[in-house]
Amino acid sequence: MVQAQQPQASPPSQPKRRRPGQDWKAWPQYDAAELGLRGYWYPVTWSSKVTGTPQRQTLCGEKLVLIRDGGEVYALADRCPHRGVPLSLGRQEFPGTLTCAYHGWTFDLESGKLCAVLTDGPKSPICGKVVQKTHPVEERHGIVWVYLGDGEEPHPLDEQLPEEWRDGSFVLGGSMQDRRGDWRYACENGFDEGHAKYLHRTSLWRLFRTMPTWNITSIERQGRWIHRVQKEVHFRDEHSGLGVWTNYRWWKKKPPERVFNIGNVGDLGKPVHPVIGRQEFPGYTSISVPGVLRVVYPDFIHYEWWVPTEPGHHRYVGIMIQYREGLSTLPFYLKYFGGIRWFFHGQFSQQDEWMVGETDAPPERLYRPDASLTAWRKLVEETTTTHEAARAAKARRQDYDV
Ligand code: FES
Ligand SMILES: [Fe+2]
Repeated sequence: MVQAQQPQASPPSQPKRRRPGQDWKAWPQYDAAELGLRGYWYPVTWSSKVTGTPQRQTLCGEKLVLIRDGGEVYALADRCPHRGVPLSLGRQEFPGTLTCAYHGWTFDLESGKLCAVLTDGPKSPICGKVVQKTHPVEERHGIVWVYLGDGEEPHPLDEQLPEEWRDGSFVLGGSMQDRRGDWRYACENGFDEGHAKYLHRTSLWRLFRTMPTWNITSIERQGRWIHRVQKEVHFRDEHSGLGVWTNYRWWKKKPPERVFNIGNVGDLGKPVHPVIGRQEFPGYTSISVPGVLRVVYPDFIHYEWWVPTEPGHHRYVGIMIQYREGLSTLPFYLKYFGGIRWFFHGQFSQQDEWMVGETDAPPERLYRPDASLTAWRKLVEETTTTHEAARAAKARRQDYDV
């Protein structure tokens, strides 16, 4: 007799164990933010570039059309609701409006309302029934800032600009470039403690300055920002069995012996400008949401905004400021256009662009200096959660007010 065999019970399936570094699940908000963080102001272009001719921009995956009218800049969704043609192909037929190139649907710039349809006569019944999405716009320091949200009232732009910008007595130079690479890689590169000492050792910007070889740092939070604070700075190391590694060269200036937290090669005896000194920055490099880096030197500050555009692409916005006014701004412009723009916002920064464009993570295997990266991810995680909660509460209040 053949006995029926009992089906073997399969062992209970074990939850798959993830190795650390295989994904970004420890930072779920960050992981999901491929197209950036919503509910923030972003620098989109220079004020001087926006005229009465509509221009296309992409921000956080959304196509926008920018146009200047009566001195103000307006931003609308760049897709005509009629048949999906970009509104940026259109033109201005009447002040305060933008007309689509295809069938002449005409939108009010301020409200986005369809106010005329040129191919359906002055009594077109669809007028007033269609509203094009608009985005809040501000101009500050010669830059157009667009708030990318979901219809809520934006917070004031000044709340989001670096605090030291409130003392507006500075001159500014900068460069905006569309670049390859996820905006998060660009942020991580910017705040990454390790790379500058190796990657940028060959940059012309650092031709006469000695870069450290490694540091001991801690991450400190100050308001909206996290800072990298130097505890130890090293310039020459003996690697057992391999030899000596150093960035010292006979033609480079010798860095100070002591630990420094202003400028990435030390202050080299330069006096610190009083406005910069008053900020009491704990470290020379700091970062805040939605992706802005601040690097503090004795008499100037360098910023980088990494603006999400399309998946895998971002816009680099490099800005340098110096607290100068009137005629004393002249040497700044000479220095900026004579060198900084090409050596710092150019060749030095293009070394970053190269690496950001080539980065492919996760998976990743992090090392000690990458504590800077994980602190940044944690900051986004915490800020996004509280920010989203505040936005939702504000939206609820607005519903109630209506
Ligand atoms: S597609 Fe814009 S008016 Fe027809
Ligand atoms: Fe860099």
